[in-house]
Amino acid sequence: MEARSARNDIVRPVPPEARAALDELRNEAKTAAQLDPELAKAAGFTHFDTPSSQDNLITVLLTRDDLHLLASQTLVRVKSREDGRAYLGVVVRGPFAEPNAVPANSTMAIGVVTQGKKLTYTFDYHGRAEVELLGEEVEGTLKPPRFRPRPQSPVFILDDAESERVLGVGGDLSLGVVVGYERMEARLNARDKAILPRHTGIIGTTGGGKSTTVATLIHRAQSAGIATIVFDVEGEYTHVDQPTDQAAMLEALKRRGQRPEGVKDLHIHHLTGRASRRPRHRHLHPFSLNFSRLSPYALAEILDMSDAQQERFLKAYDVTKLLLEDFKIFPQSEDDRQRALDVDELSTGYPHMTIQHVLDVVSAYIYSLSDEGRAEAKSRPRASSKKKGSSALLDGLEAEEAQEEAAPAPSGPTLHSEFKSNPGLVMNRVMAQSSKNEISWKALSSKLHRLRRLNIFDMGTAPGVAYDSMLQPGRVSVIDLSDTDSPQLNNLVIADILRGLQETQEKLYAKANDQDQSVTPVLIIIEEAHEFLSASRISQMPVLFEQVARIAKRGRKRWLGLVFVTQLPQHLPNEVLGLLNNFIIHKITDSTVISRMQRTVGSIDESLWNRVPRLAPGQALVSFSSFTRPLMVAVDPAPVKRLLVE
Ligand SMILES: Nc1ncnc2c1ncn2[C@@H]1O[C@H](COP(=O)(O)OP(=O)(O)O)[C@@H](O)[C@H]1O
Ligand SMILES: [Mg+2]
Repeated sequence: MEARSARNDIVRPVPPEARAALDELRNEAKTAAQLDPELAKAAGFTHFDTPSSQDNLITVLLTRDDLHLLASQTLVRVKSREDGRAYLGVVVRGPFAEPNAVPANSTMAIGVVTQGKKLTYTFDYHGRAEVELLGEEVEGTLKPPRFRPRPQSPVFILDDAESERVLGVGGDLSLGVVVGYERMEARLNARDKAILPRHTGIIGTTGGGKSTTVATLIHRAQSAGIATIVFDVEGEYTHVDQPTDQAAMLEALKRRGQRPEGVKDLHIHHLTGRASRRPRHRHLHPFSLNFSRLSPYALAEILDMSDAQQERFLKAYDVTKLLLEDFKIFPQSEDDRQRALDVDELSTGYPHMTIQHVLDVVSAYIYSLSDEGRAEAKSRPRASSKKKGSSALLDGLEAEEAQEEAAPAPSGPTLHSEFKSNPGLVMNRVMAQSSKNEISWKALSSKLHRLRRLNIFDMGTAPGVAYDSMLQPGRVSVIDLSDTDSPQLNNLVIADILRGLQETQEKLYAKANDQDQSVTPVLIIIEEAHEFLSASRISQMPVLFEQVARIAKRGRKRWLGLVFVTQLPQHLPNEVLGLLNNFIIHKITDSTVISRMQRTVGSIDESLWNRVPRLAPGQALVSFSSFTRPLMVAVDPAPVKRLLVE
C-alpha cells in the first residue's frame, strides 16, 4: 500500500520552476543563434569539466532535436572561440539522452518512464556525447592538443567530403561502408607501397566474416591489377571466377547496389598427386616441390626432429654434398663451385640434391651400424688399407680380429639414387664421419621416408611451382591445399612457395627498376595462419619464422604484401603480430584474446574494442596504416563464389 502511494506521488508534471528555467534557456539559445549565424549550425556545445574529466575526452551537450546529429564515430570540429583554437574530434561514446529537470536515476525519472503505458508525457531531455580529440588544427594540420576547448564551445559536424579527407579513407580499393555514415566508404590506395606491403591481419572467430572479407579483398585486388595469391587450406576459393550464388550474399549485394561477379583471371595450383576441388578448371597447374630449394634447417623444424635426429640429418646432409661432388653431379664447373659456396642453408637447400640422395646416405649410416655393416667395416681395411683416413677404423683389437675373421661377402646398403652405382664410395664417406645411435638414425630414416612417400619432391611428371605465372598483373592464383590433410605438408608448401615468390619478385623488381617501370604489386593471403606460424612452435621453428620475417621486411621494398587470416590470433607469436601494420578485426568473444590484441594493435580506443564481441557477421574494426584512426566498417559482401567448408 505504501509503495503504491509513494509511486503516485512521483507521477507528477514537471515542476513549473524547472519548466520556466528550460524555456528561458531555449529562448536564450534562439536569441544567440539570431545574433550569430555560425552558432545556428552548431550541433552542440562543450560542457564544463568535472573532477572526473579526462585528457582528450570532452563532453558535448546538445538539444533533443539535434540528438540524431552526433552518431557514434561522427567527426566534429570544436571551435573554442574564447581562445581562438579549433580542434577535430570523434564521437566515441553516446549520444546519450539525459533528462533536463531531474537526474536520470532519480525515482521521479524512473517513475515517469515506467508508467509509460498510462502517462502521455515525460521529462524533456537533452543529448550528451563524449568526443575524443584527434588533435588541434594548426595551419591546416593536426597537432597533438595542448589545451582543451573552453566550456560552451560550439561543435560542428564535418561533411562527408571533409570527413573522408580527415579519416584518410580515399583511394580506389573499397572495403565497405564506414559504420555511422550513409555513404562513406573505407577506401585505400591499392597501389600505395605504404599500405598493403606493410602487411595485414584478418582475425575473428569462426563465422565472423573473415573468409568473406578475403573473397571481397581478392575481388578488389584483382580489379586493381594486383597479382593475388591465396594459400587455400580448404579449397574454398577455387571457384572465385564465378559469381556468388549464395542467397544471403546476393541479398546483401543488392542492398549495397553491387552485382555478383567472378574474378577475371583465375589460376589454380595444387600439389602433384593431390586432388583439387576444381579438377577441371582450364588453368590447373599441378606442381612438385624441389628438395634442393628447402633449407635443411627449416625442414628439420617442419618435420619436428629431435636434437639427436637433427644432428644426424645435418651430418647426412653434409656427407651427401661430398658425395654429389664424388659422383660428379654437382658442382661441375667453376661457376657451380661459386654457387655452392654462396648457398645460405638457413634459407635454401643445396643444388641438385634430392631427398633420395639423403635417404641413401641415411641408409648407409644405418647399414654401418648394423651387425652386417660393422662386420664389413672390420673387413673393409684390407681392401682399402692404403687409403688415407681409414686407418682410424683399424685401431686396436678390432682390426686384428677383423683380419682373423673371414669377412662375409659384403652386401652393402640398398641404394636408390645415382649413388647405387658405387656403394663403396658412399660407405667410405659414411665411415669417415662415423656416427652412433642407431635409434636416432632409424627415427630420422622413417621421417624422411614418410616425406618421400608423399611423392611431392622432384617429380619428373610435374613441373616446379610456376612463380612467373603467379606474378602476372591482375591474376588470382589459388594454391589449393584441400587434399593434403597434413599441416606439416602445408607448411612445407607455404614456406617453399613464399620464398620462391619473394625471389621471383626480387628479380622482377630489379628488371622493372632498370626499365624505369613500376613492379606489379603482389598480395599473398595465408588462411589458417596459426597453423603455419604458431607460438607454441615458434621457439622450435626459428628458421621458418626468420624466413617469413625476411619476406615481410623485403616485401615492403619490393611490393609484396602478406595477409594472415586466423581465428586463433592468440596462437600467433608476438613476433608475427609485430610484422603486421593493418588489421581487419571481426567479432571476437574471448576477452583474453581481445586484451592480447589490444596490447598488440595499440591505437584502437577502448570504446571500439568494447564493440568487438558484439559485431555482426561482416562487420569489422578496421585499422589501416593510411587511416587516421581505426574505423568500424561493414565489409562489402563478396561478389565471388566461395565454396563452403565442410
Ligand atoms: N561482409 C558480409 N556481408 C554479408 N554477410 C556476411 C559478410 N561476412 C560474412 N557474412 C555472413 O556470415 C557468414 C560467415 O562468414 P565467413 O566469411 O564464412 O566467416 P569466417 O570465415 O570468419 O568463419 C557468411 O556465410 C555470410 O552469410
Ligand atoms: Mg573462414
